[in-house]
Amino acid sequence: MIDLHCHILFGVDDGPQQLEDSLALAKALVADGITRVVTTSHILEPPLSTATIQQGIAFLEKEFADQSIALELIPGGEIHYTVSLEEMRTHTINGGRYLLLEFPHGSLPSSAGELIFSLRTAGLIPIIAHPERNGSLLRDPGLLEPLLEQGALAQLTAASLAGDFGSPARQCARFMLKKGMAHFIATDSHGADWRPPRMSAGIKEATKLLGKEAVNKLVFDNALTVIEDREWND
Ligand SMILES: [Fe+2]
Repeated sequence: MIDLHCHILFGVDDGPQQLEDSLALAKALVADGITRVVTTSHILEPPLSTATIQQGIAFLEKEFADQSIALELIPGGEIHYTVSLEEMRTHTINGGRYLLLEFPHGSLPSSAGELIFSLRTAGLIPIIAHPERNGSLLRDPGLLEPLLEQGALAQLTAASLAGDFGSPARQCARFMLKKGMAHFIATDSHGADWRPPRMSAGIKEATKLLGKEAVNKLVFDNALTVIEDREWND
């Protein structure tokens, strides 16, 4: 499987702090069925440089080769909504048109629709990270609809479906899945112990709701479209 959201690079955000923490997370991802992972370190102001991300990837790739860890790393970022559009463009997934967009956890900013419109106008496709954990959307998941109509996509966190973020986030994630408001399931994992990958547990829950075929589309086909930068067909 492909994981579109993962904090695997060490020493750059609230993910792993040391090499061994990254390696432990990598092994946990592989054990969870992941073969390719997008490195989505937090991109805030001042943003991480793409050179730092590339160096982090190159370093881990060498370690993975030495330790026979079969996990491919793909560049990206979890981009905070306040980052400039020019900067967002430099942190897209695999250098393509898709990017992972982070809104504040408390509430949805009033500028959300405007930002999505600007990104789409600029030829970029925002993927809203974990909408099921946003305060406004937890209260009213229907608020996601107009953002999707403007051309945004949405990524649920597998651990939310598994109940790790509590019952409200789980219920919200289930609602979004059933209503067809979610396009991806990813781990948003930060370590082997704290916020570990829970892809298989999340998929199990999603499969109960949607069936195997629909879930395969979310975790294989849709994710592949993104990393290969293919046109979105829904
Ligand atoms: Fe994240």
